[in-house]
Amino acid sequence: MKNLNADLLRQSSYINGQWHANPGQEFEITNPANGAVICEVADAGAEDAKLAVDAAAAALPAWRAKTAKQRSSVLRRWYELIMQNQEDLAVLLTTEQGKPLVEARGEIAYGANYVEWFAEEAKRIYGDTIPGASSNSRIIVIKQGVGIVSAITPWNFPNAMLARKAAPALAAGCTFIVKAAAETPLSALALAELAEQAGIPAGVFNVVVGKSSSDIGKVLTQDPRIAKFSFTGSTQVGRLLLKQCASTVKKTSMELGGNAPFIVFDDADLDAAVQGAIASKFRNAGQTCVCTNRIYAQSGIYTEFANKLNDALQTLSIGNGQDDGVSIGPMINEEAVKSVQALIDDAVQQGAQVRESKQAMPDGACYMRPMVVTGVDSAMKLAQEEIFGPVAPMIEFTSEEQVIELANDTEVGLASYVYTRDIGRVWRVAEALEYGMVGINEGIISNEMAPFGGVKQSGNGREGSKYGLEDYLEIKYLCMGGIDK
Ligand code: SIN
Repeated sequence: MKNLNADLLRQSSYINGQWHANPGQEFEITNPANGAVICEVADAGAEDAKLAVDAAAAALPAWRAKTAKQRSSVLRRWYELIMQNQEDLAVLLTTEQGKPLVEARGEIAYGANYVEWFAEEAKRIYGDTIPGASSNSRIIVIKQGVGIVSAITPWNFPNAMLARKAAPALAAGCTFIVKAAAETPLSALALAELAEQAGIPAGVFNVVVGKSSSDIGKVLTQDPRIAKFSFTGSTQVGRLLLKQCASTVKKTSMELGGNAPFIVFDDADLDAAVQGAIASKFRNAGQTCVCTNRIYAQSGIYTEFANKLNDALQTLSIGNGQDDGVSIGPMINEEAVKSVQALIDDAVQQGAQVRESKQAMPDGACYMRPMVVTGVDSAMKLAQEEIFGPVAPMIEFTSEEQVIELANDTEVGLASYVYTRDIGRVWRVAEALEYGMVGINEGIISNEMAPFGGVKQSGNGREGSKYGLEDYLEIKYLCMGGIDK
């Protein structure tokens, strides 16, 4: 790893303002680009998670008693420290996760933007006054932080997903415990180091890292002291965690799987659509929940679009994310490569064709050649399942009605994309798509100002924007009487 500020390379959980070594119980963190061991990290378990809940409970009264402006200032300082350390955090992220440095720098800024945004929103937690039911009473609505928040964050955005959950929680006056993904704990621990430097008090922000996801997860979803649970990950795991949360009726924010359609009509600006498809499909080697999963191209432009997309792919270079000019890094591990390959094999067996591609491929078990697959049918697994890899399946369609039906024929509904220059069609299609987010002539839609989230089995709640703070607040109604003389 390139030289970086040693304070940022933390190797144990951060609980109640302390680093928790666990001698003799460590696990290795490896670089997916070459399989090299980066370092060992202390393996925390359910007992450590309980300690984190104790700490969050003890810290809650003082943190929620701070003024909104005080909480805002601490978050602002955290944001500044993250941005001051952007390069080192990006190097750490690329080393443990694999994404190219240019994307890792982007992720650090993306995560920091959530911290900045919620530092500002902390001061805007407004209530309401409502006309009373009688002359003798008045109705007042106040909003208060929900209490202790727990979270589980994924390996694909180990910095930004944590920041997107922790910042609104802290802004709302909640205390926070996160279990960071075991594949990529270093980014989360570096954020904890900077949280401490920013003056976030002990117990307010806790990071637990360990391999026993299910044991730690049970504590974070079942401890009755925790008011809310927030998760980013697959729909399959999300369902299980939701069941666990039901035992104590927790509030939840679930950002689950997607199966994003990318619809290109005959009248679209094809070059813009190709750029949008490259950005939305191949970001993070195809490993994001909002990645394009199936491209629907209308018959008049199907072949031309496939050719242009495949040509554009040839300009991307695949390699170690640390190297200059690399635009697609390795996938997270070998199993991920194998499961994507199985989906391609299945489609090819049923008649789909992989477009020829001439990119040089580096050595290493986690690399996968990005590819365009044509002749795909909506019923194939490649179009039905979330691919989570650098593969662009293309399906031909004829009419607007047909493509809307095909696009909506899935149990999930996170992101979707549509390219057309017909303004009437923009509205018709955007309103008909059963998705939480629609990119219209845009392939990259995520930012801190917008409400990120899905419908159907893509989950519940919104992250980012003014709506993202509401998810961490309770509404309390005060009925004031005794006003009449
Ligand atoms: C995700 O893949 O879970 C998040 C992607 C994003 O924030 O754009």
